[in-house]
Amino acid sequence: MNENDPNPLGANFAAFDLLATMVAVVRPGGDCVFANTAFEDVMRLSRRTVQGANLSDWFGDAARLADAVSAVARNAIASSRFDGLLRRGLRPHEDLLPVQVIVSQTDNPELVLVELIENAQQARQDREERTLDQVQATKELVRNLAHEIKNPLGGIRGAAQLLALELQGTELGLELNEYTQVIVHEADRLQVLVDRLLAPHRRAQVVVDVNIHEVCERVRSVILAEYPRGLRIERDYDTSLPDFRGDREQLIQAVLNIAQNAAQALHAQIAEGTAMITLQTRVARQVTIGKQRWRLALELHVQDNGPGVPAEIRDRIFYPLVSGRDGGSGLGLTLAQTIAQQHQGMIDCDSEPGRTDFRITLPLP
Ligand SMILES: Nc1ncnc2c1ncn2[C@@H]1O[C@H](COP(=O)(O)OP(=O)(O)O)[C@@H](O)[C@H]1O
Ligand SMILES: [Mg+2]
Repeated sequence: MNENDPNPLGANFAAFDLLATMVAVVRPGGDCVFANTAFEDVMRLSRRTVQGANLSDWFGDAARLADAVSAVARNAIASSRFDGLLRRGLRPHEDLLPVQVIVSQTDNPELVLVELIENAQQARQDREERTLDQVQATKELVRNLAHEIKNPLGGIRGAAQLLALELQGTELGLELNEYTQVIVHEADRLQVLVDRLLAPHRRAQVVVDVNIHEVCERVRSVILAEYPRGLRIERDYDTSLPDFRGDREQLIQAVLNIAQNAAQALHAQIAEGTAMITLQTRVARQVTIGKQRWRLALELHVQDNGPGVPAEIRDRIFYPLVSGRDGGSGLGLTLAQTIAQQHQGMIDCDSEPGRTDFRITLPLP
């Protein structure tokens, strides 16, 4: 092995470039032999700069990393896991990124593997998995509940109608007609609600070639027809995105539900004339959705400059019947999430006052 060559084994590590987590391969002294693409991206440095540097240079707590690498290389321990701070960028403009560091052996005693997982990335993945599990559980609960309500509902309505019929023409009937009408009317309202709860599960998918920008444009024109004044809808499209197979009408429904919420949240800004929704599309690589990993995906961001999702429901907005506004059903986002999931995708939300971002991620072939 040529000691002057910083990367004598580089070719062997190419597969690490497929990982979303940062990976570096170092010598026992900490000199970097290889750094994967994710590492370069996060560090905002070229591979050439990273390779050949000592990995400890990039750490807030350099001694900790050096100790771990040397202990693993000596086989004093097989692996080590700790929280560290990654120095990112060039001094004096660097920032510190909290990461989890995992140092482990390779089959070559001269080389040690260092994995770095961004805490934010870890937290996000955990949150996404939790959301998917919870959505699944609530979906089942709601479906069962809806069925339980649906069955007696027909009976209640029918009985009220029979009662009205029996009493027709009598004095009592005149008096009680109002009540039987309330029963029928409320039963009908519940029926509509229950049907909406059951709807996403019931309809079969109609799979066609879908162009995400066609979906966006349809949503844009519907919203603009509804809010002709005071609301701007900007587009920021990556037109290189390929078509994919999916249910176009359902996807329009999903995006519409999200955009409608944004428009509703923007009423003060619409009155002022400053309301803005942005529809942005981007390619994403190596994304994890739930427990599945995809090489390629598209991201559609629906952003608004409204007041943000109320803090007290922020963690629960995808649950059915959770609504932050008067007269809301709390079903819009549940349905949107179900539709995204039927396309192996997911929706998540990042919101603060002045900037709310709903991101729809859909895998691409
Ligand atoms: N862009 C947004 N800005 C602020 N709040 C939002 C936004 N999108 C959703 N929300 C909140 O999430 C809630 C749930 O939305 P949704 O499931 O569509 O039910 P609904 O619209 O019937 O209330 C809304 O009531 C609202 O409080
Ligand atoms: Mg809604």
